[in-house]
Amino acid sequence: MNPLDRDFAAVRECFPGLATDWVTFDSAGGSQILGACVDAIADYLRTTNVQLGASYALSEAAAARVAAGRAAAADLLGAAVADVALGASSTELLSRLALALGGPGAHAIRPGDEIIVTDVDHEANIGPWRRLASLGITIRTWPVSTESWRLELDDLAPLMGDRTRLVCFTHASNVLGAIHPVTDYASFIHERGAMLCVDGVAFAPHGRVDVGAWDVDFYVTSLYKVFGPHVASLFVRRDRQALLASQNHEFIGQAFPAVLEPGNVNYEAVASLVAIPAYVRGLDGGWGGIVQREATLQARFLAGLVAIPGVSVIGPAEPDRERRLSTVSFVVDGVASDRMPPHLERERVAVRYGHFYAKRLIDRLGLDAVGGVVRASFLHYHTEAEVDRAVAAIERAIAVERGQSTSASRPNTSG
Ligand SMILES: Cc1ncc(COP(=O)(O)O)c(C=O)c1O
Repeated sequence: MNPLDRDFAAVRECFPGLATDWVTFDSAGGSQILGACVDAIADYLRTTNVQLGASYALSEAAAARVAAGRAAAADLLGAAVADVALGASSTELLSRLALALGGPGAHAIRPGDEIIVTDVDHEANIGPWRRLASLGITIRTWPVSTESWRLELDDLAPLMGDRTRLVCFTHASNVLGAIHPVTDYASFIHERGAMLCVDGVAFAPHGRVDVGAWDVDFYVTSLYKVFGPHVASLFVRRDRQALLASQNHEFIGQAFPAVLEPGNVNYEAVASLVAIPAYVRGLDGGWGGIVQREATLQARFLAGLVAIPGVSVIGPAEPDRERRLSTVSFVVDGVASDRMPPHLERERVAVRYGHFYAKRLIDRLGLDAVGGVVRASFLHYHTEAEVDRAVAAIERAIAVERGQSTSASRPNTSG
């Protein structure tokens, strides 16, 4: 029995958004938020909604709540609070980081230096780096293997040279679902004298993040995918912080994280983050319990999906709790991807189609013409019955598209 199964009803109850008949299989887009976060946001706004930094007691109380939220964000990264910058989104934080390392007035990465990006990442960890090409920085592309569906070190090695300063890659693909061994990649890249910037957005809802142990230089996550509100967190290794050119007002100086945090963070959203590590710690098995439960769901979904004639998984088709997320993309032979979600919606199964901002990947695979992929993504709080409903809905949608007579159009709302 999975540890979480022992009190699964209590797990579900932590998420008010699950109290519907929708199967919310768009989790890689955004998870359900903890009710405790919603309550904390409301309570912050009701009781301590003042500007921080003043000498009066109410402002100090508000500052203490925001500080506790910062500590929670750091805890979720396995980092010290002094090493974490917050922002509205990962896209925003990575854009600032790119400018701080290689933009106008920056010194860490200079014209003639080289940055390596991939063709499998979400654009958030590609575009900001590519834009530095206009300043004379060379950008090289590390292509994902379409055999293993992973970024392979053999393909990275020939791209690295004396001028390589930074390698940017995703911990796990938000389309393919494949997880990369970050620690191995970190040693390989550090041994060759470069830094690494890892996009942990897709990985973070599925397992424990531990930036210290992994020896990364930069690591970003989006907490609206990790049971929280729209706040993103960026770890910057202590000895890299002095490399950053400030993106803040001149008089604020060089202090980290202020250099990457112009303006205020969203106080109430940040304050609410305390509920996330508290929730995970309260689960039987913590992150280990989450991994175990998702393994069961993943195996069940993949088994059901690959058994449907005409379905091709885009990504590893074998279940693997260590090396694969419960984010599964697929295409259907002869059926454009944009045709599928409306059928599923009629059965209250929420999935989506497209390129998911990993547009370079979808273009390379030639899938743009069919509307990209259909993506079903689920988390530990989903049920086996929901997995079965999703698989059955996919099967019926395909049958309808093929004009086969079926009970397809009759919604299956069981479970
Ligand atoms: C893998 C990955 N990286 C980055 C992002 C961008 O995150 P944000 O919406 O916080 O900018 C996403 C969003 O979907 C993502 O899936």
